[in-house]
Amino acid sequence: MILIAYASKSGVAKEAAEILSKLLPSADLVDLAKETPQPESYDAIIVGSGVRIGAISKAARAFLDTHKAILSSKKLAIFIANSFADSTNEVLEASIPRELRESAVWIGSVGGKLDAANLRGLDKVIAKAASKAVKEGQRLHEELNHTALEELASHFR
Ligand SMILES: Cc1cc2nc3c(=O)[nH]c(=O)nc-3n(C[C@H](O)[C@H](O)[C@H](O)COP(=O)(O)O)c2cc1C
Repeated sequence: MILIAYASKSGVAKEAAEILSKLLPSADLVDLAKETPQPESYDAIIVGSGVRIGAISKAARAFLDTHKAILSSKKLAIFIANSFADSTNEVLEASIPRELRESAVWIGSVGGKLDAANLRGLDKVIAKAASKAVKEGQRLHEELNHTALEELASHFR
């Protein structure tokens, strides 16, 4: 049995998790903001989160920290949805416990989207600043990376 557990602020990590659940139709899909799944009941686990200000969401971090021992004993994949392509490794190192980074069969970014039209207040300001960063030479994810999602899913078939 496979668990796909995600945390998503603007719906991008959610969309990635939904694509994974179509690729892996027997998997249970759980929103960590609404439910706290028990990883003991699964053979394989995929955990995903959006990134804000250099970190994964609190719900995803809490899930990884709380279940670190059990997660490192299972088949595990961890994905982030982020905008700044060049900071992926930094985010993973800062947000994911080392033993989980080392035990995961797949860990990385599945791309991301920053759609200012759907954001408000400070979020919108940050989205605009990010768009400017492109002009300064940063690589920005603008879509989900379907190749990465396929590759991640292939470990669980
Ligand atoms: C307020 C805010 C802060 C963000 N901070 C970062 C960041 O530090 N690094 C990054 O790569 N992307 C950042 N992003 C972009 C998001 O990671 C990207 O939009 C992602 O697809 C969101 O996934 P989610 O909707 O599942 O939360 C930020 C976006 C917002 C709105």
